[in-house]
Amino acid sequence: MVLHNQKRILRSATVDDLEGKPFAAGPIFTMVIRYLQKHLLEALNLSHKGTLETDITYIITVPDIWGLAAKQFMREAAIEAGINCNRLKLALEPEAAAVYCGALGHTLVGQKFMVVDLGGGTADISVHERKGNGSLKNIHTPCGGTWGGIYVDANFTQFMAEIFGTRALTAMQADEMYDYFDMMRDFEVKKRNSQTDITFRIPVVLKENDEEHFHQSLSDRLSSLMFGEKVFVRGKDKLGIHPSIMQSFSTDQISAIVNHISSVLKEERMKDVGLIILVGGFAESPYVQQRIQKELQAVRLIVPEEPGLAVLKGAVMFGHKPNIISSRVMDYTYGVEIFDYDFEKKYSMEKKIFMNGEWLVKDVFRVFVRVNEDVPFDNKVTHAFFPTENPDYVVIFRTENNVHN
Ligand SMILES: Nc1ncnc2c1ncn2[C@@H]1O[C@H](COP(=O)(O)OP(=O)(O)OP(=O)(O)O)[C@@H](O)[C@H]1O
Ligand SMILES: [Mg+2]
Repeated sequence: MVLHNQKRILRSATVDDLEGKPFAAGPIFTMVIRYLQKHLLEALNLSHKGTLETDITYIITVPDIWGLAAKQFMREAAIEAGINCNRLKLALEPEAAAVYCGALGHTLVGQKFMVVDLGGGTADISVHERKGNGSLKNIHTPCGGTWGGIYVDANFTQFMAEIFGTRALTAMQADEMYDYFDMMRDFEVKKRNSQTDITFRIPVVLKENDEEHFHQSLSDRLSSLMFGEKVFVRGKDKLGIHPSIMQSFSTDQISAIVNHISSVLKEERMKDVGLIILVGGFAESPYVQQRIQKELQAVRLIVPEEPGLAVLKGAVMFGHKPNIISSRVMDYTYGVEIFDYDFEKKYSMEKKIFMNGEWLVKDVFRVFVRVNEDVPFDNKVTHAFFPTENPDYVVIFRTENNVHN
């Protein structure tokens, strides 16, 4: 999430730790990738003896709503972790998800379908068409928002803070890190069953702190809060929570997701999209599935097997067959700045400059590809220019506008 919306590569980008202290993001990304690579090589060494590291192509998946700078940041982190840049590819997560769903044998041929990938941090939405040759065409620039599963955890933390006090919770995060992680891991497992009452063990530090601080027993305190019978003490050290409270932790995220999907489906060019494929870890939740099904009845919903692994498996398939994505819709217009001839006599004198014996128009944006243009896999656009001086780099411009010149 720290990389989302980055306009420039911020090598100094930071992430906050639990106590809100900033730490450089680059080394953390590198550390994670290095760890995963080591873990992979050890596992391969057991299962596929003789596999050489040089046999491996690495695919790192990134959300498509990330800007170019964030994608570059990820690539640099991987190279820093020791991954050979010739064997490294980034795959766009919604495309990987679509590849996986296509491979599951759902008859998607000729169909336009939406992939909704509900992850930890973000919900990513993209729309594709599967062509007769099995390849996929991306027909809508990916969009989405910050409505992932981690906000459910954040709402739970907020709820615990309401019961036990913000100070006690912050103190636990700072001083009793293991207890805090235990509590969150317990929640991670238990939130997966949001249909029945759920019981949590209350960390001792919280319970002691609570009684000391509020001068009343926990059950007395609970009855003074607004939860009614829905939150109760069980046994000596357990908290019982009614499913409706559990569901309330994800309600707002799901509403935002449903609203966003509806607004995309209302667009004119989306009118023959009749199928939604739901993937990502957050999509494993039966409550999430039910609500999306109920609130978007006009479209058919498919939740593939193991939706949480869809992106991973799709990325592996993409690694083997990169041209499975046959074309992409550009999210920007790209071009370079040139001096041009005024063949059509449309420029005023102020725009012109006399150079090497002729009049040229300055500051012309020569477009290579335009926003919303369909660009086939491996497509090349060639323009030839003569440098006016000896440049050691070329500036490339991009804009979200469809430039006319
Ligand atoms: N059964 C479940 N019920 C509710 N949430 C779940 C369930 N299973 C997994 N999750 C949540 O799904 C999230 C992880 O999903 P996923 O692995 O798709 O995320 P990610 O790809 O790492 O994140 P992002 O796509 O945002 O970068 C976590 O927040 C996890 O708690
Ligand atoms: Mg994801």
